[in-house]
Formats: sequence, C-alpha cells, structure tokens
Amino acid sequence: MNQALIDPFGRQITNVRISLTPACNLNCIYCHAEGEEHPKNQLSTDEIKTIIHAFSRYPIRSMKFTGGEPTLRDDLTEIIRSVPSHIESSMTTNGTLLEDIAHDLKDAGLSRVNISLDTLRQDRYKQITGKDLLGDVLAGIDAALDAGLTPVKLNMVLLKGINDDEIPDFFQFVRGNRDLVLQIIELMEFNDCTSHADVDNLEKKIASQSTEILTRRMHHRKKYCVDGAEVEVVRPLHNTEFCAHCNRIRVTSDGKLKPCLLRRDNEVDVRGKSGEELDALIHKAVQQRRPFNQ
Ligand code: 5AD
Repeated sequence: MNQALIDPFGRQITNVRISLTPACNLNCIYCHAEGEEHPKNQLSTDEIKTIIHAFSRYPIRSMKFTGGEPTLRDDLTEIIRSVPSHIESSMTTNGTLLEDIAHDLKDAGLSRVNISLDTLRQDRYKQITGKDLLGDVLAGIDAALDAGLTPVKLNMVLLKGINDDEIPDFFQFVRGNRDLVLQIIELMEFNDCTSHADVDNLEKKIASQSTEILTRRMHHRKKYCVDGAEVEVVRPLHNTEFCAHCNRIRVTSDGKLKPCLLRRDNEVDVRGKSGEELDALIHKAVQQRRPFNQ
C-alpha cells in the first residue's frame, strides 16, 4: 500500500469520483456535467481499470462512478467488479435504467447509489429533464432498495420557482423508510435557465424542526431527521467548509485527473499512462489542489 495522498493544504484524498461517460439520456436544464465541457472520447474498460487499480494502492475509502449517465455503459458491472472489496463503491445515476440492472450491480460489489430526482411530478420531470421518464426512475428506486444498494440517496437540486414547493412531498416520500435519504443540493448556476432557491433559509427551517442533528465532522454537510425523514443539505458554493474539507479527486470520462470541481485550469491527463508514470501524475494532481477561495 502506498502512503496517503495529502495535498498542500493537508487535505487527504479518500474519495475518487470517476466519470464513466459524458453521454446522458436526459438533458437537465441545470446540469454541470461534473465540470466537463465538451463531448469526449470516453475511456475504454481497460483504461478505467488501470486508473482504478492505481488509486486502489493508496488508502482510498471510496470510489464513486458518475457521468454523464454511468448506466449507459454496458461494461459497468465489469468496471465495478474491478474495485477491491475494501473500497466502498457507489454510483450517481439518474435511475432511468436502473430497474433491470440493480441486482447485477449489487452482485458486482456496488454498495449504494445516489439517484437524481428533482421532482415527484410527471410534468415537471419532463420540464426539467426533457424526458417523460419519472415512472422509470421510481421503478429504479424500488429496484435499488430491493437489491440493497442502500442507503439510496435522492439527489434533489433545489430550483427556484420550479421545484422549491416540493420539499414536504419529498419528506413524505422518504419518511419512514430508513434506507432512503433525501439530499437537498444547492444549485450551482451554470446557465440562465435556472436560479438557486434560498437553501440557507430552508436549512435553518429544517434544523429547527429536526429531532436529531448528526454533524458529520470533517465534512461539508449535515444530516437532519425531520419526523422520521432523513435529510442532508449539500451546499457546494455557499459553505466555506466545502473546500476546506474536500477529500475528493475526480477523473473525467476522457482520462484527466480533475483536482477541483470548481476549477478548469489544473487538470492532469493520465490517459494511456500506467505504473510509476501514472503514480507520478496522481501526485502531481494532488499537489495542484487549491481551495476555490485561495
Ligand atoms: N448544481 C448542483 N448540482 C448539480 N448536479 C448537476 N448539475 C448541478 C448543478 N448545476 C448534481 C445533481 C445530480 C448530479 C449528477 O449532479 O445532484 O444529481
């Protein structure tokens, strides 16, 4: 095992997020596409396995597969199977294609999923994502729960005037199911189609109603429990701790190490690299990490 990856600000990398494809079958009005700009030539199965293998030799706690939409890859189970069992693997998905593969993913070693779900109303789902697939997502959530890909976290990006009246409905949806967690995410504004709702006020309200506040120390989010509904609030921008406690590094779908979500100027290309050369580039990327506000 190699030594821990620690950046110049003393932040240890414990979480690797790997984008498996830039492609997505939805077209959400607010999507930041994990900071990827252009359609890209995605990594092959072997290229991804090489990167997973390299990171696995460091004391990493978890790997998360993202996209685009990771379930669009037909080698997804093979990729998940290549993650060593001591590393927790999870995936962020839109859930539309999850119903048929949830059990296979669990068998391959996937431990849990985040499912993007911004609305529980069919017309709004179409308005936000461009597709009429809410029913498929709900079936995907059921399948994920059934397969034990838990806790299933529902990623809800709060969009002013679009879904910010649905908080009570979402509470109701997760209430009483210990395997379902609602994750309310503050919008990062990338275009003019959407604007962020008042997450600050909402979080204060949730905190005042909460019976149990579990602050995950060294982390940028808090957990609340409101009437049996487990809720987390994620604030990428309006929370100074977001950068301070960042323990992540990203890999873009075309094989660039991305030290910070919010920066575009410090990516490190590792496509086609392996062995010591890849290790050196991993260290280089970690050394380039800077908090956004510095
Ligand atoms: N702001 C906040 N979160 C976003 N996501 C995508 N775009 C944005 C944005 N502009 C998050 C959502 C989605 C996941 C794939 O990425 O949580 O579930």
